[in-house]
Amino acid sequence: MKRIEPIHNPLRGEITVPGDKSIAHRAVIFGSIAKGQTRIFNLSGGDDNSRTVRAFRQMGVKIGRDGDALRIEGQGWEGLHDSGQAIDCGNSGTTMRLMSGLLSGRPFHSVLDGDGSLRQRPMQRVIDPLSQMGARIQSKSGDGLAPLEIDGGGLKAINYRMPIASAQVKSAILLAALQADGMTTVVEPQASRDHTEVMIRGFGGMVHSDGANISLQGGQSLIGQDVRIPGDISSAAFFMVAAALIPGSDVTIRNVGCNPTRDGIVEILQRMGAAIEVFNERAAAGERVADFRVTGSDLKAVEVGPELVARTIDEYPILAIAAALAQGTTTFADVRELRFKESDRIAAMSEGLRALGITVDEHDDRMTIHGGAQMQGGAVRSFADHRIAMSFAVAGLVSAAGVAIDDERCADISFPTFFDLLEQICLH
Ligand code: S3P
Repeated sequence: MKRIEPIHNPLRGEITVPGDKSIAHRAVIFGSIAKGQTRIFNLSGGDDNSRTVRAFRQMGVKIGRDGDALRIEGQGWEGLHDSGQAIDCGNSGTTMRLMSGLLSGRPFHSVLDGDGSLRQRPMQRVIDPLSQMGARIQSKSGDGLAPLEIDGGGLKAINYRMPIASAQVKSAILLAALQADGMTTVVEPQASRDHTEVMIRGFGGMVHSDGANISLQGGQSLIGQDVRIPGDISSAAFFMVAAALIPGSDVTIRNVGCNPTRDGIVEILQRMGAAIEVFNERAAAGERVADFRVTGSDLKAVEVGPELVARTIDEYPILAIAAALAQGTTTFADVRELRFKESDRIAAMSEGLRALGITVDEHDDRMTIHGGAQMQGGAVRSFADHRIAMSFAVAGLVSAAGVAIDDERCADISFPTFFDLLEQICLH
């Protein structure tokens, strides 16, 4: 349990946030299947990324430290061996879905398992396309849920029209496609984050992408690289919203990844009237990186349409806190996918906001938040979901009487230093 007390002074200062979780998973994966040495700088230290590292160690890949960096001695696909026991993906959907694609091409038996939350999340969305490619992959219980059993090898290329926009599903297919015979094409209903495509190119491979159509030829070999991971925009988002909501604040967040497939939070907060300056734009690891300066402002409600869903997918919980404080009624449309994240995020945010005195209309695929009322204090549940816990920590700062979060330790999934950094910036 953790109590966050209301803050009576502005937030000021300069911070950095841990490395991007999505990019780090890919760096570990491509470092492990490439030939030669890969060094990864600025790994998040979060539990999700450690799960991917452990999975490859379990399959025989040599992964150690080199000063601040993680060093992988890649030996190509042949460096991966039967892990002997189930790979525990913990809470990490990205580990499970990306590994399912990768292992579909490996000629051995694998089992992928996870914690209680991951065992509830839909895996049929990877089982379907990977089965079409010829993988023998199945849900052990037959209901499309983990544990997944995979007997890999002998893949063929496919053309696949994805029913939902999902970078995890797309990446699972691309990792299988690298091992398949022929050219695989994936078509997405909306362009999801493209870190896999960016990193394949960074490791010397070729991917064609034209918006939401992505094509990849099987049989490519990849070469180890140094990867400097930018700060995670999804972690920066909590401090962006806190600074925007607390009058007089002035916070600069350095070295934040702002890949255009991930920056919906900036556009939405700016539409709400937040003062966000994005400057020092540069490139790192093939990704766009910048510094963000956020100053306190009065926010107004916004209608967030379906076109923003993929670019904003992980930021709706913290945006719901911004909406609760903004003047007017905010709607998040077409967000059914939020029900399939680390928790059912529509239900989790609705329950917590109501406990703090905010009126929320919850629909199957939509959320309406009636903003502008004083956020009271109270007790909320995180549902062991890191982004729910961190969102309600920000709510605590702007509440009248403080917020108690039942389980805050789940922040370690992506942002182990979150509460220290929050305390540090509040004391400034
Ligand atoms: C991720 C993709 C997103 C996101 C998740 C990380 C990734 O999931 O919500 O936190 O690293 O590819 P979906 O692709 O399933 O929407």
